[in-house]
Amino acid sequence: MPAQIIDGKAIAASIRQELRIEVEALEKANKRVPGLAVVLVGDDPASSIYVKNKRRDCKEIGFKSEVVKLEKEISQDKLLAKIAQFNDDPSIDGILVQLPLPDHIDNLAILEAIDPNKDVDGFHPYNVGRLVLRYPGLRPCTPMGVMQLLERTGIPIMGKDATVIGVSNHVGRPMALELLLAGCSVSATHKFTSNVQEYVEYADIVISAVGIPGLIKGEWVKPGATVIDVGITRDEHGKLHGDVEFDEASKRAGWITPVPGGVGPMTRVCMLQNTLYAMTQFHSGD
Ligand code: GUN
Repeated sequence: MPAQIIDGKAIAASIRQELRIEVEALEKANKRVPGLAVVLVGDDPASSIYVKNKRRDCKEIGFKSEVVKLEKEISQDKLLAKIAQFNDDPSIDGILVQLPLPDHIDNLAILEAIDPNKDVDGFHPYNVGRLVLRYPGLRPCTPMGVMQLLERTGIPIMGKDATVIGVSNHVGRPMALELLLAGCSVSATHKFTSNVQEYVEYADIVISAVGIPGLIKGEWVKPGATVIDVGITRDEHGKLHGDVEFDEASKRAGWITPVPGGVGPMTRVCMLQNTLYAMTQFHSGD
């Protein structure tokens, strides 16, 4: 039987609806709505589209959003000053500095400057540390989105063998930590792993976050396994591709995410969930 499709677009839409209802309840109670600040440095076209989408999502569910566009040459000190301003702004619950940043900016210094209780990306070392210690606070959005895809689809997680391919700071590493927290036995493979195939063949849950189309061969997938494809690469014709050979993998997997329409919409909606969480957990008295 072919794999069932995990429809990230539909799941994200239902979460947005839930968020909308929570915002309406705040409005009815004459409370302020959550506020998200997005900082975009430079004019990278992909980043500009991401930022535009975030603004649209906020509008749809009734969040306040503030977008600041800064020139590519901005000094690190000026960028830090902008972040400090949002840290001090009581109408802002979440701050997101769109990545990548220009080369002259020290990424870690910027991430560390964001108030950890407004760090809706979950990238601040404080929030990463909390996840390591099994006390998650604000969680990185893509792994959080993947966990919600699994949970809301009813896929068993506890005690399963999971393989994460790719160990980036923002996706692979926190993904492995989330799965560990949820009770999986986790393998994390990377560019020095010589036998990725064996790790995939063994796994009940495969999560690939590399960005190399076709890296994960469909025939490696264990029958009935769940396959989550975080990879997203645009080819020269503008078509999007995941890391997994979708057609072949679909013949073997129990569940699989498409690209596009799988993980991507979940990353976006988790940013919004984090913003509401930051408000209710940390700033509700403001
Ligand atoms: N650039 C691409 N994806 C992301 C993201 O999730 N957060 C931030 N801050 N920048 C990004």
